[in-house]
Amino acid sequence: MNVLVVGSGGREHALAWKIAQSPRVDRTFVAPGNAGTALDAENVPIAATDFPALLKFARQNQIALTVVGPEAPLTLGLVDVFQKAGLRVFGPSRSAAQLEGSKVFCKNLLHHANVPTADYRVFRDADSAERFINDRYPADDQQVPLVIKADGLAAGKGVVVCSRREEALAAIDRIARQQEFGDAGKQLIIEERLDGHEASVLAFTDGRTIITLPPAQDHKPAYDGDKGPNTGGMGAYCPTPLVDSRLLRWTEEHILVPTVHAMKRSRHPFRGVLYAGLMVTKQGPKVLEFNVRFGDPECQPLLMRLQSDLVDVLEATVDGRLDEIEPLRWDPRPAVCVVMASEGYPGTYPTGQAIRGLEQADELPDVKVFHAGTARQADDVVTSGGRVLGVTALGATISAAKLQAYRAVKCIRWSGAWCRKDISDKALQYAGEPTGQEPG
Ligand code: AMP
Ligand code: GLY
Repeated sequence: MNVLVVGSGGREHALAWKIAQSPRVDRTFVAPGNAGTALDAENVPIAATDFPALLKFARQNQIALTVVGPEAPLTLGLVDVFQKAGLRVFGPSRSAAQLEGSKVFCKNLLHHANVPTADYRVFRDADSAERFINDRYPADDQQVPLVIKADGLAAGKGVVVCSRREEALAAIDRIARQQEFGDAGKQLIIEERLDGHEASVLAFTDGRTIITLPPAQDHKPAYDGDKGPNTGGMGAYCPTPLVDSRLLRWTEEHILVPTVHAMKRSRHPFRGVLYAGLMVTKQGPKVLEFNVRFGDPECQPLLMRLQSDLVDVLEATVDGRLDEIEPLRWDPRPAVCVVMASEGYPGTYPTGQAIRGLEQADELPDVKVFHAGTARQADDVVTSGGRVLGVTALGATISAAKLQAYRAVKCIRWSGAWCRKDISDKALQYAGEPTGQEPG
């Protein structure tokens, strides 16, 4: 069979790499892909949101399965377009993708399904949001531990975690008055700020059966020690000891199952990958957000460890027969993914820098270099984005996987390349530590 992966980041490189390994797959295409996907699969120069061109390509190339990586084509309804055309496609429908596309939709659903999440209020204008803060916190109280969120997709920038009153008021102004995020800011949420440690729990679901994947941890802030501005994710590792097997079962029972049921009940049946962004608090895990796709970079260490045929799972999800598949097999070794970024990211950055040492890095044992923002220019692989590579390694322990990933990072260079040096170090802090009280 032929498979088409839609997207161009590190997640899509990992998906295409894993799909191409399936003995059932003849050709793997990636639209539009990057310089790395061109090595493990075949690139097609079609943008991820050009639905007519994707549909035409799928029909002309006997694509038996299309796998949608990023949230934008999902929230715009690519899955609905393919399904209407009678094509098999992995991912949630447009209506189910609201779970990520609208934070108001997500919070209301969680609230009704009794899924643990931060207390929140929804506002449609700046005045009422400001009034809420001024009523709740007396004028002489400058400590305002709240989070202000634009409702819609804002590339991770529509969330402001606040400590002080002026931060909260400035965030409301930017979202609701300056409309910095356009229509994404038509509604905003003010929620209670949670304290704890973050983890990503992903699961395949066909709307009835849920297969939970080993827990992972992302590193969203740009710099070591979780300092600096937020990014798309500077590295990830899997599994994280923050979520032990007891907590994972608890998360499944109290978060994933009720969410999938609530989606079905509210006539938005969910098929695809459900990604719970969790804050593990002293009262147990609470949902920060849901994503409706694999995480990037969490996907890279996850798929590095997956030993089962990914295509079997993707197809069973699409066909609604996840209950029939064998339990997934995982490499017992942990995996660590270190993101190498362009100088200036997450702000503005140059592109077109020639990258050296990719082959040497890839030749190291138990290493795979997933490309994100790369392109081919004549004989060179050059940078074309902020997050450029996801250097991923397996190891006997998390520390060994980390060491191997950074060994590979050392082989790679371009002008301005940088990365966090502490990816997975948090794991050491959790190992052997209680992860919170027995959740209520
Ligand atoms: P979100 O897109 O909603 O996951 O938010 C992005 C990031 O903001 C999360 O990964 C957290 O680091 C932080 N965040 C979001 N909501 C909260 C909250 N209620 N309390 C503390 N931090 C939060
Ligand atoms: N790694 C965070 C995300 O994919 O949204």
